[in-house]
Amino acid sequence: LGTMLVVFPFIVLLSLGASYAIAGSASEPVDRLINEVAAITDGRSLHRRLPSDLGSDELSRLGATLNDMIARLETSFGALRRFTADASHELKTPLTVLRADVERAMHPNAEGSEAMQALEEALQETARMSDLVDSLLTLARADEGRFDIHREPVELGAMVRDVYETAVILGEEAGIDVSMTVLEEGRIDGDARRLRQLFLNLVTNAIKYTSRGGKVELALSRRVGAEISFTVRDSGIGIAAGDLPYVFERFWRADRSRSRGGERTGFGLGLSISQWIAHAHGGRVTAQSRLGRGSVFTVILPLAPSDRAVQAASSTSDVDRVFTQS
Ligand SMILES: Nc1ncnc2c1ncn2[C@@H]1O[C@H](COP(=O)(O)OP(=O)(O)O)[C@@H](O)[C@H]1O
Ligand SMILES: [Mg+2]
Repeated sequence: LGTMLVVFPFIVLLSLGASYAIAGSASEPVDRLINEVAAITDGRSLHRRLPSDLGSDELSRLGATLNDMIARLETSFGALRRFTADASHELKTPLTVLRADVERAMHPNAEGSEAMQALEEALQETARMSDLVDSLLTLARADEGRFDIHREPVELGAMVRDVYETAVILGEEAGIDVSMTVLEEGRIDGDARRLRQLFLNLVTNAIKYTSRGGKVELALSRRVGAEISFTVRDSGIGIAAGDLPYVFERFWRADRSRSRGGERTGFGLGLSISQWIAHAHGGRVTAQSRLGRGSVFTVILPLAPSDRAVQAASSTSDVDRVFTQS
């Protein structure tokens, strides 16, 4: 017992010293890690990374995880910066035109009819800007995940017939033959306004990127697996294979220079919005194209559960339709 009493304080002292040494050697790299992370995430240094060797195995793993996180932050900040730059650029062009139009209208030597025409053009430019701002708002809300999809039963057959009538009118103006090859019925739980916007986006693209004398075909057909597809096929300018992966990206256009000239094209947001609408309904949009030959855009949407029983009952004829349609 005597020796125990003598040895005990030594043991306590020794273990205290040991734990102090361990804690010290552990807290020093942790402090370093914290300082590094704070320095990197100050907003301007997201390109920097933590060192790969942080002393212990666990700390190094933590460092690697943090590096992954910083990389993802860097990517999304980059995308945000690009989006803001593109959006400002797109707004700048119509603003410049608008200003010039108004100045023309206000010129002391401008005649009444001249002034009127300048104002007319100013009005058109304002409409273009409203479109752009609408699209930007739609995408911003979609990003925040707070976009209201008002779900209700939507009969796609009736909607596509309606879209087709609009397409015929647009086609007549552009000298393009618009036809409907298949029109089946199908019910969706969805937002009628948004679905219409999605279909019209694809139809107006098909007409816009097809020259006079070409043709556009619409089809609405049920698919096996409780889905329905809306297809827009055109004989237009097509998209190069290398460009195809980018068509759904924001502000992407095959030929940006075209929008500078007399014929002003869109902003390159239509397909991004279309893809978002499809995703919000549990569906998707796909694109196939051959440069100089034409394009096929297909929207695939899940049918409303209340419409799926009918699908199963007539599944053999559906298979026939799928084959004859493709
Ligand atoms: N049917 C099509 N045929 C050929 N190119 C197309 C077609 N649809 C879309 N594109 C290409 O994809 C780009 C992006 O389309 P979109 O997002 O609708 O933007 P926008 O029509 O406003 O330019 C277009 O600028 C065009 O280059
Ligand atoms: Mg478009």
